[in-house]
Amino acid sequence: MKDLLQVHGLTRRFGGLTAVNDISFNVERGEIFGIIGPNGAGKTTLFNLIAGHFRPSAGAMSFDGQDISGQSSDEIARRGVARTFQAVHVFQEQTVGENLRRAGVLARYHSPFAYFSRRRKRSGSADSLEVARFIGLADLLDSTAGSLAYGLQKMLGIGMAMMASPTLLLMDEPAAGLNPSEKKAAGALIRKLRDERGITVLLVEHDMLLVMGTCDRILVINQGQSIALGTPAVVKSDAKVIEAYLGEDYEFA
Ligand SMILES: Nc1ncnc2c1ncn2[C@@H]1O[C@H](COP(=O)(O)OP(=O)(O)OP(=O)(O)O)[C@@H](O)[C@H]1O
Ligand SMILES: [Mg+2]
Repeated sequence: MKDLLQVHGLTRRFGGLTAVNDISFNVERGEIFGIIGPNGAGKTTLFNLIAGHFRPSAGAMSFDGQDISGQSSDEIARRGVARTFQAVHVFQEQTVGENLRRAGVLARYHSPFAYFSRRRKRSGSADSLEVARFIGLADLLDSTAGSLAYGLQKMLGIGMAMMASPTLLLMDEPAAGLNPSEKKAAGALIRKLRDERGITVLLVEHDMLLVMGTCDRILVINQGQSIALGTPAVVKSDAKVIEAYLGEDYEFA
């Protein structure tokens, strides 16, 4: 099956506020799929729904052909969904290697094989040295995470998500707080995740240079609702998207 993730009519209300309102889209295997929109549009809430941190008020989701609507975050993680967070989420006092191994232990806990093969090495988590090389931190394995530049801490966060060997990676603002050269490196790493690891990526990001240069397709949401879906070229010239988010003087148009 071509689609890895299918989202249909997904809705989440918080009291009187509908943070995610009847959103539908499909993500193909191997796609880098962007989700953009103004602050408060509902992007992080959408991630929380897909990852099982919030239960949907309405709608359905399927992953890899299986219905995951209403499943817990543990169940969804076990199926191969991992995420990185909007804010840095590493253990500051621990080294890069310790952070990666700790993420690996959690991943083994989530692995379907973990219960039966606790002592066997190959149980759903990746090798920490290999992941450190992949994210460019192999020379810093023994440095404490808190001593790294912010951009490198965010790379480490991506590495920690990789320890679960995910099929689908949800990345919430990986470039936030990064300088221009770190942003370029983050874009290259996201493409490498897909090209070399075959990981399907859902990318929430405000940096339009990164989004337009990295994503195959983009969903634009505003006030919880979908307003456009298509290739970067299509969404950046969409009148509703320009009005709600990009602005008339959008420099990459
Ligand atoms: N747990 C919650 N309880 C109540 N309201 C919430 C909760 N989480 C999010 N919201 C509300 O839902 C709306 C969407 O928030 P969300 O964090 O999903 O936006 P976002 O698109 O990620 O924004 P940003 O670009 O600023 O990160 C906001 O109005 C927010 O206040
Ligand atoms: Mg957010």
